[in-house]
Amino acid sequence: MALTVTPLTPNLGAEISGVDLSVPLSNSDFDTVHQAFVDHSLLVFRGQDLSPKAQVAFSQRFGPLMIHVLKEALIEDQPEIYKISNLTEDGKPVGRAYAGQYWHSDLTYEPQPSLGSLLYGVQVPEVGGDTLFASTAHAYETLSPAMQGFLEGLTAEHHFAHAFRERPKAKTGSPNHLEERPPVVHPVVRTHPESGRKCLFLNEGFTVRIKELAPAENKAVMQFLFDHMTRAQSVLRHHWQDGDAVLWDNRALVHRGVDDYGDDSPRHMHRTTIEDTAEY
Ligand code: SIN
Repeated sequence: MALTVTPLTPNLGAEISGVDLSVPLSNSDFDTVHQAFVDHSLLVFRGQDLSPKAQVAFSQRFGPLMIHVLKEALIEDQPEIYKISNLTEDGKPVGRAYAGQYWHSDLTYEPQPSLGSLLYGVQVPEVGGDTLFASTAHAYETLSPAMQGFLEGLTAEHHFAHAFRERPKAKTGSPNHLEERPPVVHPVVRTHPESGRKCLFLNEGFTVRIKELAPAENKAVMQFLFDHMTRAQSVLRHHWQDGDAVLWDNRALVHRGVDDYGDDSPRHMHRTTIEDTAEY
């Protein structure tokens, strides 16, 4: 079956059909998928049957993989796979339950953040448990030139622990390792190394402050930018089916899970996280 790329919204997302990710893609199919990834920031592959090994092999074609700091949520003999799961085994969590229920881009608290992530739905709820995605390139491009100019050259502090400070621990668990990751600093506006588009690079989950602003200014400016980034016209809502694999570009969007399901609706996902080796 021929590979096809079908856009999902005007501003982000495309569905790819005619591809089996469990076997190595030809170079020409990979080039088409890679170009679609750069053009649409998010790709949905339906009906996949992906072993952890095959998921790692496909993800590695985009770059080196990152090992998540929450070691208890990794597959033991395949630590590149981070389990997002509300299942338990012998009373113990199988992975990290209800992860990322706030707008964020993966691992911006690392000195070299992530290029992209591939999330594979092993078992998903029939209703609920969707993931929202919002284009940070579209967000930048729809700011006024005056606001774009104001943000140019500013830098922001990102910290893993920030995501847990003001959020109830009931569903996020009590992760260890929070202090293993000291704060890092990244530009507020980054030029995407492949598309050349400027993207806002700050997020509600991990961004503590814009370093050059006073506290009251920070609160107002960051809240404005978070609201602007997640306006309906920038957002795609993905409803999961078993076997969906969704690849997204952490350089060009933010995302969040939607915690509208409970432990009686099993949701078990495998995520690989690709490192961004570019300099900004
Ligand atoms: C994530 O933040 O990577 C997970 C989002 C989700 O589980 O929907």
